[in-house]
Amino acid sequence: MTQTQQHTQTDPHALTLLVTGATGTVGRQVVAELLDRGHRVRALTRDPEKAAFPDGVEVVRGDLTEPDTLVPALEGVTGLHLITFGGAYFAPLETGPRILELARAAGVRRVTVLHGGGPSLLEDAVRADDELDWTVLMPVEFMANALAWAPGIVENDEVREPFADRISAMVHEGDIGAVAAVALTEEGHGRREYVLTGPEVLTLADKTAAIGAARGREVALVELSEDEAVAQWRAAGHDDEVVGFLLEAYGNTPEVGYTVVDTVEKVTGRPARTFAAWAARHAHAFTA
Ligand SMILES: NC(=O)c1ccc[n+]([C@@H]2O[C@H](COP(=O)([O-])OP(=O)(O)OC[C@H]3O[C@@H](n4cnc5c(N)ncnc54)[C@H](OP(=O)(O)O)[C@@H]3O)[C@@H](O)[C@H]2O)c1
Repeated sequence: MTQTQQHTQTDPHALTLLVTGATGTVGRQVVAELLDRGHRVRALTRDPEKAAFPDGVEVVRGDLTEPDTLVPALEGVTGLHLITFGGAYFAPLETGPRILELARAAGVRRVTVLHGGGPSLLEDAVRADDELDWTVLMPVEFMANALAWAPGIVENDEVREPFADRISAMVHEGDIGAVAAVALTEEGHGRREYVLTGPEVLTLADKTAAIGAARGREVALVELSEDEAVAQWRAAGHDDEVVGFLLEAYGNTPEVGYTVVDTVEKVTGRPARTFAAWAARHAHAFTA
């Protein structure tokens, strides 16, 4: 039996929480942070056979595009973490109002939503809800996006990107998970919208230097023209919509994307994690 299992079986304060998007970059972190705090965690996935989770996590099958499949997963749940999309290319869910209806009926009191960067029926329904304590999580660029550089770094010791002078206050996905865990289990976070950033503003050169230091071998930054970048993204399989989004996000980053805020520290009580720490933890991904 793991420490977490022992803890949750004996702790009368342990809550039961349902995490959607649980197999994703952020969802896995939400699961881990809730588990660390000694709570009972249900992880939703469309394919439980493929989802690998630590001991103590209850894996449940469900599809957000078919909300009634969530009914068994919601039984006994007091807190629910939601994503706003339901399939390929982050297509916004159209089932948000029904999901919330089922959540309220099951006795859910707190909801966190990972903002999807654009409007969604689900987020609108959450914000309009005056019964639930909801918290909208609005992270800037995830540090995990740097994993897309792994093949180029492993094969050629280089990162090929456009807009080399762009800056970002990128956030550690573990910190998004930590803020979600606090908001789902503690009072005082209802009807809040939290912009989440890391502790510093970084250039692309800062990021490649941090990865180079973590793997013990320098990484060169090769600046691409816009046309070269578009060709690279298309070769990676991105459609027009994604290519347009990347051009806008990287070529014309909104101020919120490069402005450090202290929400992570305020909510979790400890400083936001640095990209150097992220790179050290993921050094293996950048090493042949
Ligand atoms: N990357 C960034 O820099 C960034 C920054 C800010 C915000 N965001 C937002 O973050 C979100 C992406 O989060 P992420 O990277 O953690 O996601 P991700 O790693 O791509 O994971 C996708 C998750 O969605 C689940 N899912 C998809 N369709 C589903 C459905 N119909 N029913 C149930 N589950 C479904 C998948 O579960 P199964 O496959 O296991 O069913 C999986 O767990 C997007 O909304 C994006 O706009 C991203």
